[in-house]
Amino acid sequence: MAVFCRSAVSVLKPITFIPSASAALRQYSSGGQYQYILVDKKGERKNVGFIQLNRPKALNALCDDLILEVNKALDSFEQDGEVGAVVITGSEKAFAAGADIKEMQNRTFHECYGGNFLAHWNKVSAVKKPVIAAVNGFALGGGCELAMMCDIIYAGEKAQFGQPEILLGTIPGAGGTQRLTRAVGKSLAMEMVLTGDRISAQEAKQSGLVSKVFPVDQVVSEAIKCGEKIASNSKLVSSMAKEAVNGAFELSLTEGNRLEKRLFHSTFATEDRKEGMTAFVEKRKAAFQDK
Ligand code: HXC
Repeated sequence: MAVFCRSAVSVLKPITFIPSASAALRQYSSGGQYQYILVDKKGERKNVGFIQLNRPKALNALCDDLILEVNKALDSFEQDGEVGAVVITGSEKAFAAGADIKEMQNRTFHECYGGNFLAHWNKVSAVKKPVIAAVNGFALGGGCELAMMCDIIYAGEKAQFGQPEILLGTIPGAGGTQRLTRAVGKSLAMEMVLTGDRISAQEAKQSGLVSKVFPVDQVVSEAIKCGEKIASNSKLVSSMAKEAVNGAFELSLTEGNRLEKRLFHSTFATEDRKEGMTAFVEKRKAAFQDK
């Protein structure tokens, strides 16, 4: 089924929910297709897409190929009708220690500007399905930016967040100055971006960067539980809710409220809205069909 949905940037984009996942499942074996990530489906109903960054020797430094693999896995989860949310995680030592400095070291301005370097990093923020970052260890530079592109961040209690690009003679280039400032406010964002200092999981929680902090060994399972909860709702309506919340970062209050109202009205074009309210009245659990 294809539905056309107006995004915050006013582009009509199709959302396709494909009921059968057998073709998609074949892609999830990380053996052949992926070198830098592990890809799976988690949760009791296998409805949570799972991407684990897996470049341990470089603390999950985000080389170009790793990001391309993440994009590919996200594409397959977007197409998979069973998947209602995605979790991205790293290892206990590092979510990701940033963009790959060794890969960037000798790049020239000409190559960066001419080749639109990092243009393909935005995929995580563009997917329709909700994405949860489960962060343990270092989330630095591009790693912090990747986490912030996700919709929800859960942190392990030893996680550290930072934008240390200034120490390398550069600045964040994948949304760090924008998303961090919106999340934690100007003073803390300026301090982090200008000094390169890191903040702890607890400081990240206090400042609103992450929504929950868990013991190190529980953060991934808690993120999967959250993903299962999200996936048990209508996938179609969840995408609308996500689009509405994201509108708050792009639009004026008047425009944002208008977008919200139109999306709210649009839920009345879905069978799931009817089912949800009917189930409430009939005192039973709703059985959403994602249409
Ligand atoms: C490439 C990296 C890397 C990175 C770590 N490594 N971070 N390689 N790019 N971002 C490699 C190291 O070179 C080393 O490989 C191995 O991982 C282990 O790292 P160590 O430094 O030995 O580990 P440790 O002493 O525990 O220190 C951990 C660390 C440190 C504090 C995270 O590695 C560090 O400061 N990393 C860089 C963090 C950073 O500056 N990130 C921002 C990058 S710029 P070898 O082979 O030597 O053993 C960026 C720009 C974003 O993200 C722009 C938009 C995307």
